[in-house]
Amino acid sequence: MEKFILTIDGPSGVGKTSIGKHLADILKCNFFSSGNVYRSLAMFINKNIDEDYGKYDIEILDGICYVNRETYSSEDLYSNEVTITSSKIAKEEKIRNYVKESLLKYYQSLDKSLVIEGRDMGSVVFQNAKYKIYLDADLITRGKRREDQSKMNETVSDLKKRDLEDSNRLISPLKVPDGALVINNTDLTLQETINLIIEKLRLQ
Ligand code: DC
Repeated sequence: MEKFILTIDGPSGVGKTSIGKHLADILKCNFFSSGNVYRSLAMFINKNIDEDYGKYDIEILDGICYVNRETYSSEDLYSNEVTITSSKIAKEEKIRNYVKESLLKYYQSLDKSLVIEGRDMGSVVFQNAKYKIYLDADLITRGKRREDQSKMNETVSDLKKRDLEDSNRLISPLKVPDGALVINNTDLTLQETINLIIEKLRLQ
């Protein structure tokens, strides 16, 4: 089968990562979270706060993101500080362009298909993706799911604030991509959401 991309866009707590990993397993292809690049950049910037790096060298190798050859543990990347900085730097055009370029390069380097999740994957970075999904759920449900994730310490009100920032930014705000399958999974389990995607997109 020819190499293809499946994008999953949507706000935090809709299950983009868990659902994306399951779909990648079923489709026997690669999975990547674009938030990982924003988080790695945020970590690098927080660590080198006094340095003015006009340019960042971002490379994704075997699904691991390197910023100027540094890589970080998921404990570091999912700290509250990095979560807040990543949302802040994601508003900058220069940063978004670096991330976009690194993701396009990553896809080119792969010999298998890719399932990729993030807020602007189908709407901006991979507009010509073969399959596009937009997931949504109500705020309380998303907040509860985030609170249940051991590595995230985000509360419902933190999530609401970050959602507002991500949705109202001028560049690449969160939106439903053209041609996307839209699913509100407030009342669906993970497995039910996956089954619905497989059925609607005829993936099997
Ligand atoms: O998906 P995440 O929680 O790991 O993302 C962290 C932050 O990175 C998020 O608040 C906004 C930014 N981000 C983005 O702007 N665009 C993406 N495609 C992925 C993440």
